Amino acid sequence: MKRNEIIFRLFIAFFLFLPIRAFSIDPVYFGKPLLIKDDRNDYVNAHGGDIKYFNSFFYWYGEDKGVHAASKNGVNIYKSRDLHTWHFIRQGLVSNNYSDLKKGSIVERPKVIYNKLTKKYVMFFHFEKAGAGYSSALIAFATSSNPDGPFNYVRSFRLNRGEYPLNAEASHLNNNGNNFFRDLSSGQMSRDMTVFEDDDGSAYILSSSEGNKTLILSELNNSFTGLTKKFIRIAPGEYNEAPVLFKSKGEYFIICSGSSGWRPNAARLYKSISVWGPWEYVGNPIRSSVTNMKNTFGGQGAFQFSYNNRNIFVLDIWNDKNLSTSNYLFLPIKWDKNGLPFSNNTE
Ligand code: DGJ
Repeated sequence: MKRNEIIFRLFIAFFLFLPIRAFSIDPVYFGKPLLIKDDRNDYVNAHGGDIKYFNSFFYWYGEDKGVHAASKNGVNIYKSRDLHTWHFIRQGLVSNNYSDLKKGSIVERPKVIYNKLTKKYVMFFHFEKAGAGYSSALIAFATSSNPDGPFNYVRSFRLNRGEYPLNAEASHLNNNGNNFFRDLSSGQMSRDMTVFEDDDGSAYILSSSEGNKTLILSELNNSFTGLTKKFIRIAPGEYNEAPVLFKSKGEYFIICSGSSGWRPNAARLYKSISVWGPWEYVGNPIRSSVTNMKNTFGGQGAFQFSYNNRNIFVLDIWNDKNLSTSNYLFLPIKWDKNGLPFSNNTE
């Protein structure tokens, strides 16, 4: 081939390649159920998880699901520069012989935040002791000095033992049964959960509590090694699971699911001008056909992350016959004229 021809061909190839490159740095997977391959050509197995941006990389932390709920290996960690090519780092949650984290324990919904005081990355997750189904209902955490992990298991605990919420007025506490009082001395349950870090560095655990009846939002201490005494109950008696909490333009939003095991149901949206409430139910954030609204496009929320000034809501499409083959759904969030987030699954 002549030199000019080679230059011409490189020139054409460069322009042909441009849109592909631009395409590849976006989550091309918007709006449809996906299985995503990692750089080993295996499916990304990181459910109920979290995508975080640390040290110029996107990290995806999530449940390493086996066929059934009792997680095979805890938490998988992947990293990516572009949200497109995912490098598998490791199964990143490690235990020691003395801890209650064992094979057969259930580990769900891991979320990672960085603590400036301790300079540690802290992974919080829903934890169930091996062989006890979902009855332990604990929050647990593990720490690492590197976002790549491994994360060393520290301990598990129930929420706010012996304490009363900030919104403890009688009408709130007496609402919809007495699970709150039942668990007062042992600590409140923490099943499906998320972690939210506010702009001022304060951070919170938001959990399905009281037998999934009520959400509890508890403030983490400065070192993210335990809780302060501050907490509130949210939406008592409304059976919310899979909470996802995020902030936009000074307002706080929670998107959660109803409670129907692995089967999808209609998403619910709450909003507040303060993390401490009052939280107001504002409807279903999905705008689509009746079926899609009723089942949230078949998905259940896992987490929200911001990318290129967009809020992206990520869901699991559970396959309860084999949880490891559950798909993902990335929904770009739009904003309606009342300033409320919604998704109709298109960009
Ligand atoms: C739905 C939850 O959101 C999942 O995380 C899991 O706990 C299942 N329930 C268990 O049935």
